[in-house]
Amino acid sequence: MQRKILLDCDPGHDDAVAMMLAWGNSSIELLGVTTVGGNQTLDKVTRNALSVATVMGMHDVPIAAGCRLPLVRPVEIAPDVHGDSGLDGVELPEPTVELDPRHGVDLIIETIMSNEPGTVTLVPTGPLTNIAMAARKEPRIVERVQEVVLMGGGYHVGNWSPVAEFNIKVDPEAAHIVFNEKWPIVMVGLDLTHQALATDEVAERIAAVPGSLSQFTLGLFTFFRKAYQDAQGFDFPPVHDPCTLAYLIDPTIVETVKVPVDVELNGSLTTGMTVADFRAPAPEDCHTKVATRLDAPRFWGLVVDAIDRIQKVVDA
Ligand code: BDR
Ligand code: CA
Repeated sequence: MQRKILLDCDPGHDDAVAMMLAWGNSSIELLGVTTVGGNQTLDKVTRNALSVATVMGMHDVPIAAGCRLPLVRPVEIAPDVHGDSGLDGVELPEPTVELDPRHGVDLIIETIMSNEPGTVTLVPTGPLTNIAMAARKEPRIVERVQEVVLMGGGYHVGNWSPVAEFNIKVDPEAAHIVFNEKWPIVMVGLDLTHQALATDEVAERIAAVPGSLSQFTLGLFTFFRKAYQDAQGFDFPPVHDPCTLAYLIDPTIVETVKVPVDVELNGSLTTGMTVADFRAPAPEDCHTKVATRLDAPRFWGLVVDAIDRIQKVVDA
């Protein structure tokens, strides 16, 4: 059975790889892509999404632009990590894929409401503005969504403050809305994604895939590596966002634990922190899980397979 998903993203180097995994794995049916201001401005990340779709030959999946600004706070972007374009390090083609005229929030709502209840999974890999807006505009989506599998947060470390991760810190009010709705949530946070390192060995595996998509991916990784070395002291960059897809494709690749999670809004030092309560037992009505352990070799196997599969379709 294919998992039907909506990818809500801000490409972004690792978002681009999430698009590859969403498009290039046969157990995922990609119903739509929505963009949100995050790593770069909404205009830039939307253009990036269209360019990546063009590179992958992804013509029949609607792509719609969503919210430009966080719900309450001033906008923050991440040029130190993703460059001026949001996808520095690669030559981006002029998109031949057209933008869907709907607002991203409406695409999310319409897709969920027009599919059977319990069949659509939301995969947010940027700030949660669109998802929160959709839940407020059409509250019935909450009980119709199968699962929300999001990249964001962390239970013991942050990257945009000592304790807050970028996607949550940029729009904590939206994250608070999303985490407090009763849909099943899997938080694929930094504790997990810092295990998804694009090492030299990973780069070699990708380089062995014939065709231009592997070169495109390596271009992304080269820029991303330098950015993570300079900005965050990593030897190799953590490729966060596709870990959400890996969980959906094969949950044995991503271990999870059921624990309550809430989002701090008022801390003088901790705003945007995802506070996870590991005290056992988790309450009966706990609807949140956090991802703890990644099988990195199998995760990268999925990425390599997706690149290979997409390339073969593009070449055919
Ligand atoms: C998250 O922030 C962005 O920079 C990445 O695309 C990822 O979604 C990691 O904190
Ligand atoms: Ca992202």
